[in-house]
Amino acid sequence: MLTLGIESSCDETAIALVKDGSMIAQAMYSQATLHALFGGVVPELASRKHYEAIAHCVDEVFSDIEYTLHDVDCIAVARGPGLLGSLLVGIAFAKGLAFALQKPLVGVNHLHAHLFASGMEYELALPSLGILLSGGHTYTYYITSYADCTILGRTLDDAVGEVFDKVGKMLGMSYPAGKTIEQFALKGEMQALFTPPYCKENTLDYSFSGLKTQLLHYIRANPECVLAHHTMTPDENMHCAMVCASLTHAVTYSITHKVTLTLQHCMKECLQCESLLLGGGVVANSFIRKALCDIGQKHGYMLSIPSPALCTDNAYMIAYLGACLYNEGYYHSSNLTPIPRGRTIPWDYHKQRDAT
Ligand code: KG4
Ligand code: ZN
Repeated sequence: MLTLGIESSCDETAIALVKDGSMIAQAMYSQATLHALFGGVVPELASRKHYEAIAHCVDEVFSDIEYTLHDVDCIAVARGPGLLGSLLVGIAFAKGLAFALQKPLVGVNHLHAHLFASGMEYELALPSLGILLSGGHTYTYYITSYADCTILGRTLDDAVGEVFDKVGKMLGMSYPAGKTIEQFALKGEMQALFTPPYCKENTLDYSFSGLKTQLLHYIRANPECVLAHHTMTPDENMHCAMVCASLTHAVTYSITHKVTLTLQHCMKECLQCESLLLGGGVVANSFIRKALCDIGQKHGYMLSIPSPALCTDNAYMIAYLGACLYNEGYYHSSNLTPIPRGRTIPWDYHKQRDAT
């Protein structure tokens, strides 16, 4: 089965083709350099750029492969959470294609797509504990199927990627800063400068805003750790490298602490887990990957973690989860609506009666 995936929830326009779970082709237009000028994503500009890029991305996907648009069996589109105007562009385009080609349409939860992304690379073992660490969201889920993900914990304020991006901005780095912080952290020596956030509270929820405030105070007191220009390397500002290593340590500690608590909760509640499913842009971070691999090994869970390129936003993950859902009989009508950030994604699939 050939599935076309459409991703336009934030600042990346991406189209991908997946055949029976395997990647065939993808085209992506990133707006990162445009939004970097403003230090964050400007929603109005983002939707305009999606509108300009989306049809070109489709043309590019089909430019050099044996398939044409008419061979596609299913259209999958990210329906949220995300920026409303950006989602509208992708969804309106998907509906147009589905109508013109007379093919089924599946709206995909962008966050769930991150979690199942490693399914393109490994056999997934469910039920599973899902750990989503992205730029806009931080959640843990109990996952029993492609269509059933129950939230166990969430951030009460900032998402983990947001902390990296906001602290990076304070340190003079360009947006998004997660990867740059990792590069600096790899060169820096970790010091116990920052208290890992929200670890004393015996809850499965996260909170990162206190850590951001700790960094704000530290940077104000030590302005020499701020980069003079965003192209500076770690060797040119080792103080900044040390701050990044210490920040990454505090974030990693908090995440591993919460994941351990959540695994204990699952055992207590008899929620059987076969594996840990990791997803989201922050899972590209080598420190966090290693720490979560160690937890998986220590407690004997299979770990499903996407390769770094599949951690950040992409359309393969949308096509992949859309195809998995469609294979189980789920689809949407042309009434599919975009769900912006902050609103719960409704469970509003239609189901084919004869599907499993
Ligand atoms: O999942 P994603 O692509 O977008 C959302 O759905 O939000 O995640 C983007 C986030 C950004 O905050 C970015 O700074 C962070 O992922 N990120 C990283 C790394 N690569 C991207 N954070 C830490 N280390 C990285 N290597
Ligand atoms: Zn994402």
